[in-house]
Amino acid sequence: MTTPATPLAASGPNADQIDYWNGDAGERWARYQDKLDAMLQPFSSAVLELADIKPGERLMDIGCGCGATTFEAAEHAGPAGHALGVDISGPMIARARKRAEERAGTSGGHAEFMLADAATHDFGAGAFDLLVSRFGIMFFADPVAAFSHMKPSLGTSGRIAFV
Ligand SMILES: C[S@@+](CC[C@H](N)C(=O)[O-])C[C@H]1O[C@@H](n2cnc3c(N)ncnc32)[C@H](O)[C@@H]1O
Repeated sequence: MTTPATPLAASGPNADQIDYWNGDAGERWARYQDKLDAMLQPFSSAVLELADIKPGERLMDIGCGCGATTFEAAEHAGPAGHALGVDISGPMIARARKRAEERAGTSGGHAEFMLADAATHDFGAGAFDLLVSRFGIMFFADPVAAFSHMKPSLGTSGRIAFV
C-alpha cells in the first residue's frame, strides 16, 4: 500500500519550489521514475564514489526525489547505518516510500523518507555523518542560508558529496 504523504505547506523561503515540485513536475518525475533513474545512474555512481560511505554511517540525501540515490547510499551504509531521503515533493516522496515497501526484506541498509524542506527543517545537531545529493541542492532561494542551516546537522568530521 502506498503511504500517502501529507502535503507540505507552500511557505517559507522555498515556497515557489514547494509549489512547483508538488505540481506537474513532481507528478511527471514520479511517473517516469524508472526512465529518469536509468538516465541519471551515472551521476549516482559518481556522487556515491565521491561520498565513500562507510558501513554504519548516517546520511541525508537532499532533494532525494523518488529515492534512487538514497537506496544505493543505504546499501553502502549497511544494516548498521541509516539513509534519510528528504524532499519537498509529495508525489516523489510517495513514490520513494512505495519503492521502500517493495524492497522491504531485501538486502541493503535502512532507507527512510521525509517530506520536508531540507533548507529549513531542524534535523538536530550531529544527526548525520554526511550529506549527499543528486541534483537536489540547486533550488534553494538562498543557498548560503540553506547550507548554513544544514551545517550543524553534520558532525565535526562531517562530509558532503553533491552533483
Ligand atoms: C532534479 S530533481 C532530482 C531528484 C533526485 N535527487 C534524483 O536525482 O532523481 C530535484 C529534487 O529536489 C527537490 N527539492 C528542491 N528544493 C528542495 C528543498 N528545499 N528541500 C528538499 N528537496 C528539495 C525537488 O522536490 C526534487 O525532487
